[in-house]
Order: sequence, then structure tokens, then C-alpha cells
Amino acid sequence: MNQAEGKLQNKKETLDSRKPESYKIFDDIAGTYDFLNRILSFGIDVYWRKKMTKKLPQRKNLQALDLATGTADVALTLSKQPQIAHVKGLDLSKEMIAIGRKKVEKANKRGLISLDIGDGTQIEAEDESFDVATISFGIRNFSDPDKSLRDIYRVLKPEGRLLILEFSLPKNRLVRAVYFFYFRNLLPWIGNLVSKHKDAYTYLNESVEHFPYGKEFAQKMENANFKNVTYTPLTFGIATLYCGDKKDS
Ligand SMILES: C[S@@+](CC[C@H](N)C(=O)[O-])C[C@H]1O[C@@H](n2cnc3c(N)ncnc32)[C@H](O)[C@@H]1O
Repeated sequence: MNQAEGKLQNKKETLDSRKPESYKIFDDIAGTYDFLNRILSFGIDVYWRKKMTKKLPQRKNLQALDLATGTADVALTLSKQPQIAHVKGLDLSKEMIAIGRKKVEKANKRGLISLDIGDGTQIEAEDESFDVATISFGIRNFSDPDKSLRDIYRVLKPEGRLLILEFSLPKNRLVRAVYFFYFRNLLPWIGNLVSKHKDAYTYLNESVEHFPYGKEFAQKMENANFKNVTYTPLTFGIATLYCGDKKDS
């Protein structure tokens, strides 16, 4: 291993060591999370979440599970779709869940959405209990994404579908250069300043650069037994939407 590779490996190990307790960072920044999401992504995150709902299975009465549900933006977006019967949202951060619950209450969706503290790598649910599972911008924070994928497979019904939205890196060199300037400099600076956290947005951004995306992440889904796995880059590849099914063909 040369010096550059060694440095990269050290960085990855430092980031990985923070993941089991990453939810504590979200406890600290929960109050400004939604506001910063909207301004730092220029509102594109709303469009990405809507794009995810377009891939819902075309069946009625869907039972949905939203892991790393945070402040419930995905749960609320899902609940607007006519084929959704119920959304269960799980997250390890009690502060994010508390804000999510207020939003659910305000939207008058208490009958449709339930939010609980829960680990995405060790899901407290019976086998084959959901028609669809979603995770948006959560799985890269999990201590063991492979374990989570296997557990999601377990709790999905046969014919169930997994939809994942996660950050990725643009392929085009010019877009990538502009993106890196924003992502490595401006975004962490604004994020840390507004959230008053010493390095939350530095960690969150660095974790993106060290997380597999595209074909490499799709392979992880296939390793967990998902079939028909697809990945669709969104907005120059800044984010990617993954889709996989629990079935035999
Ligand atoms: C970037 S936020 C995403 C929130 C939401 N899905 C969204 O799209 O805005 C990541 C979330 O993952 C949660 N998280 C981290 N590790 C987790 C785990 N092992 N199980 C469940 N949630 C976890 C954090 O608490 C945080 O709320």
C-alpha cells in the first residue's frame, strides 16, 4: 500500500469508527436538519424523495418500512401515495423522531404513519411483514450496511421491494470539480456554522466520498439476494436511486 492509499484507508477507518454512534450526531443537529437540507441541496432533496415514490410496487394496500426515517420526510411523502396503507418509520435518533412525530401530527397523518426508535441493521419486525422498504440518505451511516440489507430482505414479503436513495459522486469531470468545491468547502462550513456542531457536516460529507455507489453498491444488494437490481443516477449523479426486488426471477 502506498502513502496515498494508506491515508485513504486511515480516513475510512476513522469514519467507520463513528458510524455505530452516528445517530448521536443527528440528535445534536435535529433542530436545524430540515432547514439545512432544503438550503444546502437547493430543494433538490424534495424532488429526489418524490422520484423514489415513483418506483413503488404497483399494488394496493402497501405496508411500508422507512429505515433511518429521521424527521419523517420520506414517510410523509410515501403517505401521499394512494397505494400506501401504512408507513412504519424507524430511526436511532430520538431527537429526529421527536421532530418527525410533530410533523406527522401537523399533517394529520397519525393513522397512516407510526415512528419509533429502531436500528436499521437489526430490524424489530417479523419476517415477511412489509411490501416495500425505503432508506434515504441513511445507509451510509449504518455500522454494517450488508447486515442491514440482509435484514431488510428478511422483513420484506415475497415480491417486496427495496428502494434506497443515497449520495454518490458525479462522473463528469467538470461537474465533479464544481461539486467537490461546494461539497468539501462551502457545504460543511455553512452546515457546521448553522447547526452549531463542530464537525457534523464535515463527517457527513466525508462519509459520502468513502461509501460505495453505483455498480458497487448494487452488487451489495445482489449479495443480499435482491433481484432485478437497478441504479439510476439523479442530478448529474449527485445522488443515486437503487431498486431491488425480493423474488426468484
Ligand atoms: C441523513 S439522515 C436521513 C434522514 C431521512 N431519511 C431523510 O431523508 O432526511 C440519516 C439518519 O440515519 C439515522 N441512523 C444512523 N444510524 C442508524 C441505524 N443504525 N439505524 C437507524 N437509523 C440510523 C440517523 O439518526 C439519521 O436520522
